[in-house]
Amino acid sequence: MNRPEKSVTIGEYLDAKGISRRSFLKFCTINASLMALPPGTGQVMAAQLRAMKRPSVIYLSFQECTGCLESLSRSFSPSVESLIFDVISLDYDDTLMAAAGHQAEQARENAMRENWGKYVIVVDGSVPTANGGVYCTAAGKTAEAILTETAEGAAAIVAVGTCSSYGGLPKASPNPTGALPVSKIITDKPVINIPGCPPIAEVITGTLLHFLTLGVPDLDAHGRPTAFYGNAIHDRCYRRPFYDQGKFAKSFDDAGARSGWCLYELGCKGPLTYNACATVKWNDGISFPIESGHGCLGCSEPDFWDKGGFYQPIPEATFTDTEKIALAAAAGAALGAGSAVLSRWRRKKKLAEAAAGEEAS
Ligand code: SF4
Ligand code: SF4
Ligand code: F3S
Repeated sequence: MNRPEKSVTIGEYLDAKGISRRSFLKFCTINASLMALPPGTGQVMAAQLRAMKRPSVIYLSFQECTGCLESLSRSFSPSVESLIFDVISLDYDDTLMAAAGHQAEQARENAMRENWGKYVIVVDGSVPTANGGVYCTAAGKTAEAILTETAEGAAAIVAVGTCSSYGGLPKASPNPTGALPVSKIITDKPVINIPGCPPIAEVITGTLLHFLTLGVPDLDAHGRPTAFYGNAIHDRCYRRPFYDQGKFAKSFDDAGARSGWCLYELGCKGPLTYNACATVKWNDGISFPIESGHGCLGCSEPDFWDKGGFYQPIPEATFTDTEKIALAAAAGAALGAGSAVLSRWRRKKKLAEAAAGEEAS
């Protein structure tokens, strides 16, 4: 590339890196299909992205464990998802960037000045507010001051992980640092929550792509994209037929567990947890907690650390009336309904992948 990297379009950047149009189209089509967007949207996304310059992204890490960034950077593995790092210009990330100290702060300030009104902030971690916010500082500024200052010129904020979406572990009782989620501090900009401890890489990538091409996606009452958080894990779980038959494992090593029976009585929070784990799954679609033999902990829900024992069955009293009606209706549904929905979804994904291949050829 002869021109400076920042002045070229994403298309020119990809061409210079030897990334084929076909791979990029496949990337966009798979993401569009994961979000259940209408056929052809992947092509529109690909064309729009190729024509635009790489958007500036400032990644801020506060009270967090780096698990969320670890999840996102897993997409550095040679998979189609790694393309997200070619689509965005990650101008500041104090965990990944080579610069430190004044140079790092300069990078953040430059990105803000050069992209005022257009850059996206990705935040992981909660923001401490007790005792003047002294529990998390960088370059002599509190996390709250850095967030407020950086948000001023941002187009939107993406809160990645349950810590930044709802406070997460740092906010668990007794919340010694006065931890708050991003949405309680920034109230004058769109804040998109992508909860999960950590969230699935494809969910982060898909949400970013949606924002860059189609704007803020539809969000539920907890600020999560409905495309990924619109269904309870329970509604897509492959163990659901056993739930419907009343076949529950009583311990993690009994015959029921070995036969793949439902983990409800071992504390699975799938019925009250909204996330894409049972469909998108983890590590390139290999598995998800329930498939690996452990119940869902409810990690994408607000206050999940304070909701009672991870290994206690959900007390019926905690179900809302709507949830009780939904569960009762589901329990009465035809046997195998859960697995039928799942296989329909998998078929749809396979068709989308095949279509992506054809569109690209
Ligand atoms: Fe770590 Fe979980 Fe918080 Fe992400 S949401 S920073 S994985 S504790
Ligand atoms: Fe799956 Fe858990 Fe629901 Fe059982 S309770 S069907 S293991 S989500
Ligand atoms: Fe979290 Fe439950 Fe998925 S614990 S990773 S939402 S299966």
